[in-house]
Amino acid sequence: MSNSKRAAGRKAAERVQSGQIVGLGTGSTVFYTLERLGERVRDDGLELRGIPTSTDTESKAREFGIPLMTLDELEGRIDLTIDGADEINADFHMIKGGGGALLREKVVASLSREVTIIVHAEKVVADLGAAFPLPVELVPFARTPVRRALQALGAEPLLRVDQHGNPFLTDNGNEILDCAFEGGIADPAALSLALAGIPGVVESGLFLDLCDHLVIGLADGGIEERSRAQPARN
Ligand code: 5RP
Repeated sequence: MSNSKRAAGRKAAERVQSGQIVGLGTGSTVFYTLERLGERVRDDGLELRGIPTSTDTESKAREFGIPLMTLDELEGRIDLTIDGADEINADFHMIKGGGGALLREKVVASLSREVTIIVHAEKVVADLGAAFPLPVELVPFARTPVRRALQALGAEPLLRVDQHGNPFLTDNGNEILDCAFEGGIADPAALSLALAGIPGVVESGLFLDLCDHLVIGLADGGIEERSRAQPARN
């Protein structure tokens, strides 16, 4: 598994060109992208400015010597964002948020000219949500009504907890309900709209039309790449 994550993460880092502003996703696959970008900065003089999607990525990027900036300093678009995913289907729709960074990841992806997603092969699925529960970020105040609203949509929501059994808090001070859907998510677009309409829900881990290029790490350390025929955004 770590072989395939490493292969995908490092390969995606080669897509970055000097002078670019790069969205830096979150997770164990992105770790290898950060590692490779750090090498390219140090050894090849690659010039980039990264926008991290989590405090975890921010500290790792600093350790690897990657220059950083904030969204407040951004004029125009991010050139390229590289991020992981928990599941991705044939339409390039995704579930993200296993690492709890879904809100910042979605903001950064939506501001990007190109989003490259890095996964290992088992994450490419036929039906979203059949195996991986959908993370939904919510304000703690609204936990109970949001849970009921999610149940009414057919979900079985489970509050994410940390290693001490306390509610897991995102970088934004919010909680996450991980939502299982028996048989998977039949209509991701309809569900995404319904979730956005629940007061107290901040964001969902359904990422629709937010992947342009996919790098799949294979078990033998090889790579498969796929691109969308039509760019998701211009
Ligand atoms: C974090 C995410 C991650 O990209 C996703 O969970 C994949 O992580 P990993 O590369 O560790 O498997 O969405 O919010």
